[in-house]
Amino acid sequence: MPETVWWKRGTVYQVYPRSFQDTNGDGVGDLRGITQRLDYLAWLGVDAVWISPVYPSPMADFGYDVADYCGIDPLFGTLDDFDELVAEAHRRRLKVILDFVPNHSSIRHPWFTDSRASRASPRRDWYIWRDPAPGGGPPNNWLSNFGGPAWTLDPATGQYYYHAFLAEQPDLNWRNPAVRAAMHDALRFWLDRGVDGFRVDVIWHLMKDEGFRDNPENPDFSADLPEINRFAQVYSADRPEVLDVIAGMRAVLRDYGERVLIGEIYLPMERLMAYYGPDLTGADMPFNFQLIQTPWRADAVCELVENYEAGLPEGGWPNWVLGNHDQPRIAARVGELQARIAAMLLLTLRGTPTLYYGDELGLGHVPIPPERVRDPWERNEPGHGRDPERTPMQWDAGPQAGFSTAEPWLPLSEDATTRNVDAMRDTATSMLTLHRRLLGLRREHAALAVGGYRTVPLGLPEIFAYERFEDGTVLRIVLNFGDAGHTIPLTDASAWTILMSSHAGRSGARVSGAVDLAPAEGLILLRA
Ligand code: NOJ
Repeated sequence: MPETVWWKRGTVYQVYPRSFQDTNGDGVGDLRGITQRLDYLAWLGVDAVWISPVYPSPMADFGYDVADYCGIDPLFGTLDDFDELVAEAHRRRLKVILDFVPNHSSIRHPWFTDSRASRASPRRDWYIWRDPAPGGGPPNNWLSNFGGPAWTLDPATGQYYYHAFLAEQPDLNWRNPAVRAAMHDALRFWLDRGVDGFRVDVIWHLMKDEGFRDNPENPDFSADLPEINRFAQVYSADRPEVLDVIAGMRAVLRDYGERVLIGEIYLPMERLMAYYGPDLTGADMPFNFQLIQTPWRADAVCELVENYEAGLPEGGWPNWVLGNHDQPRIAARVGELQARIAAMLLLTLRGTPTLYYGDELGLGHVPIPPERVRDPWERNEPGHGRDPERTPMQWDAGPQAGFSTAEPWLPLSEDATTRNVDAMRDTATSMLTLHRRLLGLRREHAALAVGGYRTVPLGLPEIFAYERFEDGTVLRIVLNFGDAGHTIPLTDASAWTILMSSHAGRSGARVSGAVDLAPAEGLILLRA
């Protein structure tokens, strides 16, 4: 394997800590639970674990409302538990990536308590306070991502504070150098404890328009969309000044060697690319959610991959994401069969893959009865909630699928007695085995981990084919997005060996001239 920094070579695995493993019987996952399951992650073959927020928090948004940037919420454990997790991960050559939430704190953060106490508070300017509009009402038309206005009036001081999310999540004022300095200190606190990088929450939101201009109306808005889409978020986010803020964070990381900065960014492709920053001073990896947003068709995905590859800045490293704690499960979106194609795609494209816990089991949409809804967004805007993709990891066929000894905070999937790690780990055809084999191949073949990419045009609308190559090794990946079989021409005289099929079996077979592809089958071929 050529010498390449770990986050380019490796695969990131996202753990939603409430739902991974509970060790203290409260129905909510914890840090010790993650530590207990590190052997599983090593066995699976991922390289880094990204942990969604575990900081002290009132949990209005399940940890994305931070009350102390340098601590651990007792629900998840202690700083000692955290240190142990990092040490145990490192012992297994697994990296640890923390979720960092700098755009907003909790309303309970002492900084905000101080800020809201009076207009003269030393920390007043750490948050975004504005007078009511002339004639009263919120200062402008900005909306909360969770529905309703993004401004809440604080009657005691007569001003509104801005919150891009819940009223319990006031936005910090990143134009204030003291805020930047405090946040840099928080980054150093965790870097000093050995974390290998950060996934930065809503990084494109950090700077807002200095003049707080109204957002323009979105002509494409329709009532089935969340209310935030009523306006184009032109002034409330994605301001050019944000790149300087990101460069500041990156500079902090640079002092610590090979650490990674990943930015969460939901923007169109052209804008996303800007977040690599001038001369790559921005995020190492601006999260690429395009696969989540593109229709599941071979031609659309092929076009996306080509546009993304072509749009990358010189030296910018690609990455791909299929799911996370905010998006419907991939298996629910494309169906069980195509979820296998999706896994093969994610783990063979050029760029760092991020795999969401449970997707390796093919977990689908878990229905949440009304009385068990937990996500505040679902309460504000029914139908948009994220509970169905946050349900507990399923480990075995025992009570609570081995996740907890108590009733879990969210329900298990109905098929938990068969859809679990224990039941699937030794089955050749399981989704879990498919993931493990793909991750194994990625480690075995530098062409997959760090090699080049080129499309193989076949002129078959349901098939997406491409090659990954490095140092004379060529792998060809052929993915059938449709439900008909095809005979695929191999376009040159070479002989090929089937390394694996998404349907299991066929490995080791030699083919030349053409190869048969079953409905919804994916193949990885190695040129002889
Ligand atoms: C993005 C996070 O992924 C999401 O879960 C959270 O609700 C918002 N940011 C607010 O922090």
